[in-house]
Amino acid sequence: MSMEAMKRAAAAEALKLVRPGMKLGLGTGSTAKHFVDLLGEAVAGGLSVVGVPTSEATRRQPESLGIPLATLDDLVELDMTIDGADEIDPAMNLIKGGGGAHLREKIVASASKMMVVIADDSKIVSALGRFPLPVEVVRFAEETTRRAITAAFAEEGLACRLVPRMKDGVRFVTDEGNLIVDARLEDANGVDHGGRIEQPARLAERLAAVPGVVEHGLFIGLCSAAYVASQNGVARMDRTS
Ligand code: 5RP
Repeated sequence: MSMEAMKRAAAAEALKLVRPGMKLGLGTGSTAKHFVDLLGEAVAGGLSVVGVPTSEATRRQPESLGIPLATLDDLVELDMTIDGADEIDPAMNLIKGGGGAHLREKIVASASKMMVVIADDSKIVSALGRFPLPVEVVRFAEETTRRAITAAFAEEGLACRLVPRMKDGVRFVTDEGNLIVDARLEDANGVDHGGRIEQPARLAERLAAVPGVVEHGLFIGLCSAAYVASQNGVARMDRTS
């Protein structure tokens, strides 16, 4: 099975959880795109749902498929959010934000009774940290914020190198008008010492406390279930605590 076929298979499993009348958070990224595609087919076949997109990029796809959309201000609470992830650890903590949408994704997931992740099995890790952690920062005093982020990692015993997120040769700007730095677990010379975020909840708290950090890509205790596709099929994982 190709990677795209695996992503679609995971999305198809998540679609089985959707019931008529549900209010759904629609994730961002290539895996979530498959889900929106399949949801569009179901809506065309008569399913009635309403979606809240987690990014401007995601908004265009459901619009073109005729999926009714609303804002979180309209709905306040959602039944379920379906989204991809960059890493999933055994406790079902996540790294997200590879697409730069983790701020809205976290707001939408937090407003949902259930967050369901869909992914291929390359996203499963024994500890978070191989994927660079996206941190959304305000434009003001970026260097000051960067130093505080580096210090937060150091307090967890982790060396990190902060790489400005770029797109088409210029700084990537999020839907909320902020910047992103990607925290790589490397020393200042770019050498990877095999760092692992052993205490993601603690690092999440430290990063959230940095003035200038708008949101980081650690999703702690938000994901309730995940459909993970491999060559052997799609397995469901449930968070137990
Ligand atoms: C976007 C995200 C995505 O869900 C994450 O990057 C996974 O994307 P993909 O399904 O394309 O691998 O967090 O901000």
